[in-house]
Amino acid sequence: MKTKLIKLDELEENQKNLKEAANILRNGGLVAFPTETVYGLGANGLNREAANKIYIAKGRPSDNPLILHIADLEEVDQLATNISDDDRKVMEAFWPGPLTIILKKKECVPYETTGGLDTVAIRMPSHKVARELIRMAGVAIAAPSANTSGRPSPTKAQHVMQDLNGKIDMIIDGGEVGIGIESTIVDLTGEVPTILRPGYVTKQMLEEVLHKEVQIDQAILRKEGMNGVQPKAPGMKYRHYAPKGKLTIIDGQNIDKVIETIKQLVEDKKKEGFVVGVIATDESMKCYTDGVIKSIGSRLDEVSISSGLYRVLREFDDEGVNYIYSESFGVDEFGDAIMNRLLKAAGYDMIEV
Ligand code: TXA
Ligand code: MG
Repeated sequence: MKTKLIKLDELEENQKNLKEAANILRNGGLVAFPTETVYGLGANGLNREAANKIYIAKGRPSDNPLILHIADLEEVDQLATNISDDDRKVMEAFWPGPLTIILKKKECVPYETTGGLDTVAIRMPSHKVARELIRMAGVAIAAPSANTSGRPSPTKAQHVMQDLNGKIDMIIDGGEVGIGIESTIVDLTGEVPTILRPGYVTKQMLEEVLHKEVQIDQAILRKEGMNGVQPKAPGMKYRHYAPKGKLTIIDGQNIDKVIETIKQLVEDKKKEGFVVGVIATDESMKCYTDGVIKSIGSRLDEVSISSGLYRVLREFDDEGVNYIYSESFGVDEFGDAIMNRLLKAAGYDMIEV
């Protein structure tokens, strides 16, 4: 299959291109498109064969359900049932935006899309291109992150190219995404709303809207498999976001000590003949002298850090780095979401100093 790469720039061209993309989706094809979180790989989510194509292109386990993306609030009632007033409050507060909601599915949603579950994940993205494309396609769009399973999620069209060229019909290049880590997932089907995957929309933000307690799925806070607790979002049990090199996080209150430790580790590994990478920040870059040093973003702007995470991991892969040492970044709830991804990428290897 030849994958068509389309760059969005001129408005008139955009309409023509988006129309073509919408046609592909309606006809059961696969189109990768930008969202405010990461690039998604879209297919008609109500069409079994189209949904199946996603699993094949990504090499994704078939028990890992897909998120249905919608463009307008009314569409949620076509896909889900048992929607409460609280559920609507959450939608109105955070949609369009980086929040995915789990609800009870209606019959029209095939089990191919929900990985066999009776619930369905729904999100209304805020990215202009994503919403316009979904609206034009006129169907709910199933879209996982547009990476090969197990690789970091794509934050640029070029990342999608690396993973899926030749396997999908089209890639829409809308530039680099804003947030850079996947949406928060909240399950609203139980007694207590439960966060299954942390993201930009935090527990505190949800609690402020709902005026009641929101839980975080305990299984995602600890190392997978520990105590036999399985995460409730099937996708959270896989070792995601893995770079090819061995990643270790150095954590500590005293940043000077963290930097000193990383410098020592780099020196040791270099002596053994390895290519070594460092994940630093705009502020700490200049403190390092050895190894492949990359800034993930600025500590003054958390979104710069979340949006840089997958990009630097992929860059280290491209440069054949064997060992990567990273500073740690968790300072508040959104910081926890960033650390959740970084810890998974590191296989939970963290050194406290
Ligand atoms: O930001 C995002 O959410 C991106 C963009 C493209 O919208 N999409 C994304 O999709 O991250 P994906 O497929 O990479 O992750 C979907 C996650 C998986 O962990 C999956 O197990 C979970 O959502 N999920 C989907 N449906 C579910 C359901 N009914 N119950 C529990 N978890 C569900
Ligand atoms: Mg994914």
